[in-house]
Amino acid sequence: MIGRERQSAIYLQGVGGRTPRVPLDPERLEAAARRAMRADAFAYVAAGAGTEDTVRENRAAFARHRIVPRMLRGVERPDASVELFGRRLASPFLLAPVGVLELAHREADVAVARAARRVGVPMIFSNQASRPMEECAQALGDSPRWFQLYWSTSNELVESFVARAEHCGCEAIVLTLDTTIVGWRPRDLEPAFLPFLRGQGIAQYTSDPVFRRLMTEGGAGAGSPQPPPTPQALRTLIQLTRAYPGSFLRTLASGHGRAAVQRFVEIFSRPSLSWRDLPFLRERTKLPIVLKGILHADDARRALDAGVDGIVVSNHGGRQVDGAIATLDALPRVAAAVDGRLPVLLDSGVRGGADAFKALALGAAAVLIGRPYVYGLAVAGEAGVAEVVDNLRAELDLTMALAGCATRAEIGPDALERVG
Ligand SMILES: Cc1cc2nc3c(=O)[nH]c(=O)nc-3n(C[C@H](O)[C@H](O)[C@H](O)COP(=O)(O)O)c2cc1C
Repeated sequence: MIGRERQSAIYLQGVGGRTPRVPLDPERLEAAARRAMRADAFAYVAAGAGTEDTVRENRAAFARHRIVPRMLRGVERPDASVELFGRRLASPFLLAPVGVLELAHREADVAVARAARRVGVPMIFSNQASRPMEECAQALGDSPRWFQLYWSTSNELVESFVARAEHCGCEAIVLTLDTTIVGWRPRDLEPAFLPFLRGQGIAQYTSDPVFRRLMTEGGAGAGSPQPPPTPQALRTLIQLTRAYPGSFLRTLASGHGRAAVQRFVEIFSRPSLSWRDLPFLRERTKLPIVLKGILHADDARRALDAGVDGIVVSNHGGRQVDGAIATLDALPRVAAAVDGRLPVLLDSGVRGGADAFKALALGAAAVLIGRPYVYGLAVAGEAGVAEVVDNLRAELDLTMALAGCATRAEIGPDALERVG
């Protein structure tokens, strides 16, 4: 039982006077990450849209759903495994795509890839990663990985990203629908901090042959407003020149650092994206396509009609629409609309194994871990990510055992009661 093994390992360390380096309580974990990170970087990760009502609501929805444990069911070894797109996973956790991980740790996505390999959970490469997917693919060995796509205004770039993802052994393409533009985030607006403008989180682009061609074609950013020439602007220029692959001096001379950022801003996303665009992607990859950001049952039905292979019920961790419905509240209707024809995953607000149990009970096939693993990364790098995942898996295992559920099939809506 992985839950008891993990518990015993921690308590045994305590006998020798050692306590876990990575806090287990989600709030203390967040506080530890805040201490480890620069203030603007932490704010970027923690931020939600507007008043951050949806960030709180995601958690409140978990609190409204109470587990009703059943007794004397003789559960010795709970089995939480799940099969997704032909691969059996020992636990129903995946690492959500999170951009700009260099804000948390110097080794960024590569440290996460190593941790994912160590604990055997799939990693979803972010379109806004700090390291190119090829580097992470190498660090992952045979461990599973998916690729998350933001649909650029350039279809050629979309094709290139998808082809690279296939080449990197990705087993699914996750198309994120809820971020055709960045939400209104006061915590980032107050310090006027958007990492992409400093050349952070654009490694998938600067490593891409199509992007590099687009960057030099047609005068990237011609006529776009320039920042005022202040010492900070100079520091930023140095930062984004350094972020560009290759020699610093050559990049400075060529102006490629700034051109990359300008071109990125121009082609990052396509607000006009609609259901009509999906066939383009369907025709270009045989990989399963998973739509991330679905919250309405009608959209789930359209996803089925569009022939996609999976859905992630997500509100982007409350970062996009302030006041948006909590994902756990949206899940039952989406699951009912899909009626078992597609796997439905969930993220936003999952902070413990018991939260995962609740999501499974309401119809999720698996859950994505977001901020908690980023905080683990900030506190202790690769080891920190692995510990966060191990703790979640252990807690789910113990929750299943203590709630009297030996298998996934036994975790149904009747294991929960909604209060309030
Ligand atoms: C700092 C940060 C960056 C993110 N970047 C991406 C991204 O590049 N692509 C994406 O699809 N989702 C992104 N997300 C959303 C996550 O994939 C996930 O939906 C969210 O973190 C889940 O909420 P939680 O953090 O409350 O668990 C990001 C989230 C955070 C906190």
